[in-house]
Amino acid sequence: MTAIEMLVNRQSTPLLCHPAPKGDDLDAILAAGMRAPDHGALKPWQFTVITCQGLQRLSDIFVEATQVEASNRTDLLQGTNEEQATEAAKLKFKLEKVAKKPFRAPMIIVISTRFVDHKVPKQEQLVTAGCCAHAMQMAAYALNYGAMWRTGGFAYNEVVKKGLEISEDNEIVGFLYIGSPTKETMLKPAKPYTEHVEYWT
Ligand SMILES: Cc1cc2nc3c(=O)[nH]c(=O)nc-3n(C[C@H](O)[C@H](O)[C@H](O)COP(=O)(O)O)c2cc1C
Repeated sequence: MTAIEMLVNRQSTPLLCHPAPKGDDLDAILAAGMRAPDHGALKPWQFTVITCQGLQRLSDIFVEATQVEASNRTDLLQGTNEEQATEAAKLKFKLEKVAKKPFRAPMIIVISTRFVDHKVPKQEQLVTAGCCAHAMQMAAYALNYGAMWRTGGFAYNEVVKKGLEISEDNEIVGFLYIGSPTKETMLKPAKPYTEHVEYWT
C-alpha cells in the first residue's frame, strides 16, 4: 500500500480483536503520533496506552462516572416506588453497558492535551493533539491493524479526566481503540470533494 492509497482509503474499524500492536509496531504508532504538526514545538499532548488490566481500570472509571452522574440527578429520588424501581433497573442496565465499553478493543490510547502557556493559542494546541490521534490511526492502519477514534460523553467527564490523571484545564481529545480487524471490511464509498473545494486561480 502506498502512502497515497492509505490516505485515500483510510476508514475506521469499529470491531476489533486481539492482537493489539506491541513492540516495534506500538513504537511506530507512538512515533507517528509524535510527528504531528506542532506550532512552536510545544508537544502539547499526552498519550495513555491502556491494555490488559488497564482496560478494567478504565471500565471502573466509566462506571464511577456514570454512578456520580446518576447521584447528581435529584429527579431520580422523586416519584413512586415503582418509578424509582424502574429508574434503578435502567441505571443497572446502563452501568453494565458502560462497563463493557473499554473491552471493545484490546488497546486504547487516550490522547489528551498538555497545554503549554505560550503565545500559540490553545486552539492550535488542541488541533495538534487531534493530529496526533489521526497520525496514530493512520500508522495503525498502515501496519494492518484497525482503529476507531471515539469520544462520547466520557471524554468530557470530570470523573473520567480525574481517573486518567488529566488536569481540569486539559482536554481528552479521544479514545483511540486499536486492535486487529475481526473481518475484512468493505471499503466505504469515497466522499466527493467537489462541494467542499473552491479554486482561486
Ligand atoms: C473527535 C472525534 C470523536 C469521535 N467520537 C466518536 C464516538 O464517540 N462514537 C462514534 O461512533 N464515532 C466517533 N467518531 C467518528 C469515528 O471515529 C469515525 O470517523 C466515523 O464513524 C466515520 O467512519 P470512518 O472513519 O470510517 O469514515 C469520532 C470522530 C472524531 C474525529
